[in-house]
Order: sequence, then C-alpha cells, then structure tokens
Amino acid sequence: MIPKILIAPSILSADFGRLNEDIKTVEPYSDMIHVDIMDGHFVPNITFGPPVVAKLKCGRPIDVHLMIENPQDYLEDFAKAVSKAHGKRGDCYLTVHQETCTHLHRAVQQIKKLGMKAAVALNPATPLYTIEPILKDFDMVLLMTVNPGFGGQEFIDSVLPKIQTLRNKAPKLNIQVDGGINDKTAKLAVRAGANILVAGSYIFGAKDQKKAIESLRV
Ligand code: DX5
Ligand code: ZN
Repeated sequence: MIPKILIAPSILSADFGRLNEDIKTVEPYSDMIHVDIMDGHFVPNITFGPPVVAKLKCGRPIDVHLMIENPQDYLEDFAKAVSKAHGKRGDCYLTVHQETCTHLHRAVQQIKKLGMKAAVALNPATPLYTIEPILKDFDMVLLMTVNPGFGGQEFIDSVLPKIQTLRNKAPKLNIQVDGGINDKTAKLAVRAGANILVAGSYIFGAKDQKKAIESLRV
C-alpha cells in the first residue's frame, strides 16, 4: 500500500523575520515542516544555517533539505539544531542531494548514526539509476519538480514519469516532491505516486493557509 499523503509547508516562503509565528500558523494543519538550506554554491541562493534552525520552535517533525556542497561536514550541526528546535530528532529528516555526495552511502549512514531519518534528493535531470543500488537505505526520496534554489517556480511535469517509475520499484517508499506544488500539480504528483508534498509559495502566499493545505490533500 502506498504510504499516507503528508503535507510539508516550506518556510522558504515564510517571513524570515517571524519564522516561529509563521510556523505556528500552519502547524496545526501540517504533517511536517520543510526547512530549505541553501549555500550560494550548489544553488544560486543563500538562506541560513544551524544557528537559525536551532531557534525554530517546531511541534511537527522537521524536514531539512540541504542544498549545500559538502553536506557531510554539517550533518552533526544540523542534527543538534533539529533536536533544539523540535525537542528530539528521531522523527525528523536530513535530506542530502545526490549531486553533492561523492560517497552517498556514507552520508546516509552518517545521518542514521546521528539518529535521524535519511533522505536523498534528485534534481529534475538526475536519473534514478544513480541511487538504485542503495534504494533500500533511504527513509525518503525527494524528486525535485523544479531546479532547486528558489520558491515560486513552475512545476516541471517531465518529472512525473520518474515519480511513477520509482513508485513501481518501491511501493512502500516515502516519495517526496518539492517545487511548484499547488492544488493542480499536487494531483498529478500523487497520481504518479508521490506521497509527501512540499509547498512554499502556494501555502504562504494564500489568504487562507488552512484551506490551501487542505486543498493539497487529494
Ligand atoms: C526550492 C525549494 C523548495 C521551495 C518550493 O529549491 O527546495 O522547498 O520552497 O517553493 P514553491 O512551493 O514555491 O515552489
Ligand atoms: Zn526544499
């Protein structure tokens, strides 16, 4: 059976001056909170690092999407920050990009050793075969539906067959999609096999955030 549909608002589209207030608003209707870390190298944008994550107050599990080079050098700092923000880390995810990890299997083992769930992200142009030999090691696979770096971009629908192929290979795997998710693209992604939907601008740009989140539960 395909795992339950879960919604993860991305705080990239929240107000960075009042992150905790914005998290509080969406939390009651959300399943996890997606935190985008960008370094200005792997992606052409910069957000924040572990000290800011540590100051978040998050009742829901945190899902840290690391869009940074050499992520293995920062895993422990982010794990500690997540523990401070959420009180524990066992139900939280650290996601590294396949494109940044020469030793992906090692990075995944490091994340697990830190007591967190381990996930890998693939850019739209990165093929599934690059993770297939170690597929069973992941707690979640994130298939990017935009080129990472910015909120508010258009959903790349040529990723849909990739989602479908992965779902056929791994019926129970958590498959996350991130980028350009709204009430229409959510349906396409879920039909293809995704079960964890990240949405930033669609949720934080909405007048009624509860309604926006509920509209993604297709
Ligand atoms: C993009 C980030 C996303 C971003 C999605 O690189 O990884 O998490 O917040 O934003 P929307 O939902 O606006 O496309
Ligand atoms: Zn993200």
